[in-house]
Amino acid sequence: MKSFLKIQDLNTNELLNLVDKALEFKSNKNIVPLEKIVANLFFENSTRTKNSFEMAALKLGLKCINFDSATSSLSKGESMFDTCKCFESLGVDALIIRTKDDEIDFSLDIPIINAGSGKNHHPSQSLLDLITIYENFKDLSRLKVAIVGDIAHSRVAKSNKAMFDKLGIKTYFCAPLLYQNKDFIFNDFDEIIDEIDVLIMLRVQNERHEKSDVNNLSMKDFSLNEQRLKRLKDNAIIMHPGPVNWGVEICANLANHEKMRINTQVKNGVFARMAILDYCLRG
Ligand code: CP
Repeated sequence: MKSFLKIQDLNTNELLNLVDKALEFKSNKNIVPLEKIVANLFFENSTRTKNSFEMAALKLGLKCINFDSATSSLSKGESMFDTCKCFESLGVDALIIRTKDDEIDFSLDIPIINAGSGKNHHPSQSLLDLITIYENFKDLSRLKVAIVGDIAHSRVAKSNKAMFDKLGIKTYFCAPLLYQNKDFIFNDFDEIIDEIDVLIMLRVQNERHEKSDVNNLSMKDFSLNEQRLKRLKDNAIIMHPGPVNWGVEICANLANHEKMRINTQVKNGVFARMAILDYCLRG
């Protein structure tokens, strides 16, 4: 039995094996049904990750229970941990958990899959990002990636940093002062934009701010606009974990640009999550 809690728990081989497995599933190979039941326990909102895990489960022959936090006994004071214990006692084979907490710091007798925890971890997003990058470039060794936006509050930035560090991928971080934190070294976006292969734009994570920047004004000088787009290398790609606030971190008229890989990321998310479910449930 294996949980999938954070990128830091995986070694490089495990990461690359998950990429291979996901690409095998993407080419419709070696899909051996699993006769088990998983539960999607989302204690924070989601469109992509929740439905992607359900899609992945269905494609693997799993049954998936979708817990609805709004109509659950959370409203009667039940804790997240007790809710998870309840599903373990109900007899499900694995839990897929999204939480506002930065860490999932408990274990159960069944695998736990982290579908995004607070500001710190989003390992399934990192895996689908890696698959998308690998499909484009194959050779990861000389790649340069820039992650731009609300780094301080982004679990994608932290998970991806951990993953890119493991793989020896050079990563730059660019953010307005308000969205910087001490764990990163920051670069000037306009100084590095010509040399990067992968640009990952992030939205402002207002839901995790102590002081809300509701107008997203701080992103104004860091958005991807036409001028910056022109400076990207010919074969560079643009990614974003979603949801996108068009007109804030990326100009709305660039939505369908050929460099955009946002829809490919969503597509790859299903295969990444199939690989994760297979890793946790088949062992
Ligand atoms: N990328 C991502 O986690 O999106 P959702 O919040 O919609 O799941």
